[in-house]
Amino acid sequence: MIDDDPSLQAAYALSSVDDNRRLYARWAKDYDQDFAADMDYVLPRHVAQQFLQHGGAAPVLDVGAGTGLLGQALRRHLSPLDAIDLSQEMLETAAQKNVYRHLDVADVTKPITHLGRLYDGIVSSGTFTHGHVGPDAIDNLLPLARDGALFCLSINKHHWIEKGFEAKFQDLDDKIEGLTLVEVLIYGANATGPHRDDLGVIALFKKRPNYDAAAE
Ligand SMILES: C[S@@+](CC[C@H](N)C(=O)[O-])C[C@H]1O[C@@H](n2cnc3c(N)ncnc32)[C@H](O)[C@@H]1O
Repeated sequence: MIDDDPSLQAAYALSSVDDNRRLYARWAKDYDQDFAADMDYVLPRHVAQQFLQHGGAAPVLDVGAGTGLLGQALRRHLSPLDAIDLSQEMLETAAQKNVYRHLDVADVTKPITHLGRLYDGIVSSGTFTHGHVGPDAIDNLLPLARDGALFCLSINKHHWIEKGFEAKFQDLDDKIEGLTLVEVLIYGANATGPHRDDLGVIALFKKRPNYDAAAE
């Protein structure tokens, strides 16, 4: 259960999907100011920049889109963008920004069967992190991508090590290609507190053609 007010520390300490749902329901209205602005949260801009630099194309699915900060960074360059997130309340805040075509509640720790759409780009910032989503969620994202689709996912660097993302990517070798890892700072120069120097790994890769057929 969540006892603390929403904060980065409380978010990193989450231990279940239900706790995530509860925390983000309470954080949705204030997240952009209390967290993103106050911590100088630059990660969504890094993810957008890497996706575009590597030739990312639409339609794009933003995974764990939250209040839509990554969508805002991409929208000037690409459309359509769709959003999925565990939290209906976070998606309601995102919807006010008018950057996404469709916004759907989805839990990426489980197979996602209700979207009925395929994407040329799958992006994510800040969702593969402590207390949130681990490496196995990538298995649930691959079926949402077209052959050759570009993935651009940020992963908190400590989480990468603790949860075994390197081994996961080795296991995915027959399903993905061109894995490129880029290390970035999650927060900018105005960040404060114990996490101000935290690093993210941005993992870029493509879904191999014919993966679905080969996987059956
Ligand atoms: C730190 S926020 C990042 C939001 C946004 N991408 C950003 O960079 O500001 C993490 C988001 O992951 C979502 N999330 C947590 N667990 C999830 C799950 N199992 N499936 C889908 N989204 C999840 C939360 O609801 C929250 O919106």
